[in-house]
Amino acid sequence: MLTRVPFLRAVQSQLLRNSTTEVINNYTTMSKFDLPDRFVGNDKSVWVEYIQLALQHKPVNLGQGFPNFHAPENVRKALANAALNENPLLNQYTRGFGHPRLVNAIAALYSKLLSRKLDPTTEVIVTAGAYEALYAAIQGHTSPGDEWIIIEPFFDCYEPMIRTAGGIPKFIPLKPTKNSGIISSGDWMYDKNEMASLFNKRTKGIILNTPHNPLGKVFTHDELSFIADLAKKWNTLVVSDEVYEWMVYKPHEHIRIATLPDMYERTITIGSAGKTFSVTGWKIGWAYGPANLLKNLQVVHQNSLYTCSTPIQEAVAVGFEEELKKFGQPDCYFTSLAEELLEKRDFMAKFLADVGMAPTIPEAGYFMVANWTQLEKNVNLDEEQDEYKDYRFTKWMTKNVGLQGIPPSAFYSKEHKHLGEDNVRYCFIKVIVN
Ligand SMILES: Cc1ncc(COP(=O)(O)O)c(C=O)c1O
Repeated sequence: MLTRVPFLRAVQSQLLRNSTTEVINNYTTMSKFDLPDRFVGNDKSVWVEYIQLALQHKPVNLGQGFPNFHAPENVRKALANAALNENPLLNQYTRGFGHPRLVNAIAALYSKLLSRKLDPTTEVIVTAGAYEALYAAIQGHTSPGDEWIIIEPFFDCYEPMIRTAGGIPKFIPLKPTKNSGIISSGDWMYDKNEMASLFNKRTKGIILNTPHNPLGKVFTHDELSFIADLAKKWNTLVVSDEVYEWMVYKPHEHIRIATLPDMYERTITIGSAGKTFSVTGWKIGWAYGPANLLKNLQVVHQNSLYTCSTPIQEAVAVGFEEELKKFGQPDCYFTSLAEELLEKRDFMAKFLADVGMAPTIPEAGYFMVANWTQLEKNVNLDEEQDEYKDYRFTKWMTKNVGLQGIPPSAFYSKEHKHLGEDNVRYCFIKVIVN
């Protein structure tokens, strides 16, 4: 209609020309290459900052969690054998959703532990570390506006993974139920009413981490059942991050939430070869669960990584096959690792108590959280600029005492960071006991 009037046609083409120039100008002034909105706010990482700090000050670094001893020899030899194997295909691409030998081994192990037959081709996926399994589970099961419940303190990638997928994290803290005497990670609990209040019809799922990083808590049957009942009531998923499943100190026992009644159907369980065989640099992980839920992870994986390293998967498969033969015996790595770590845990707890901190004794894992506030009078927090006291404490300790830990407020949501400020996290797997 407009364009039939010559004068108006001229005005219209002028408008169009102006708006095109405006768009081009906007691109140049706004910078076309800014971080996409969905990542804004996720650029700070405690790991990047503290690795840099360690490089600069060369402290005893009990920050990042990885062993400083050799992985079992059979597993390392298996990797060498795979790389040098006569079969050239062991150094080529393998099946995208997991090297056949490895998915078979994983399915065999967890079929035994879950007392149900897992199909290695549809109920197991191999990923680049547990990290990618978490990413694929969250990306593959989040639509914009979906809510996910996260238990604090938490492995810090959960929050950005949910937010960048368009999801909304809802947080609930574990809090110590004791403040004197010896505190165990089991004394850190969630409030059941608060937990129940977070579930609603928008809840897509809850991320559970048992055994827990950083507290070392092994969730009890009662705590897991409470979560499981809510997940069933509200028809939600459970993503269960169980990377520390083999580092549990007796008499505590790891319970897989997927084994609770009617829970396998709604649970994606995640594991890590890095943690299982003390080879964190290998970055192989997995997820297992019902085929309909794993399908979504397959889609994310095939459109991002597609496939993981073949010789490393082969070596991990050999590791599993050999441990399965020794399963339940004292020389099985799944049993012996925790026994070796126990001495280090007790040494670390005594050391921290002797210097005036109040450690939480972990029931599992290789991290220990300790309250440092009794030392406040001996440290000069004013020398550091950070907003949260645990950042200032850990930085001051790194620079002046030569001992580096990680500030636990990094493992809380913005609104709950104050809950982590009185503590520091140390990784005791690197401690050498004389
Ligand atoms: C709780 C938790 N989940 C997942 C991971 C990642 O494991 P991976 O190294 O296999 O990616 C870690 C590593 O520290 C962790 O602590």
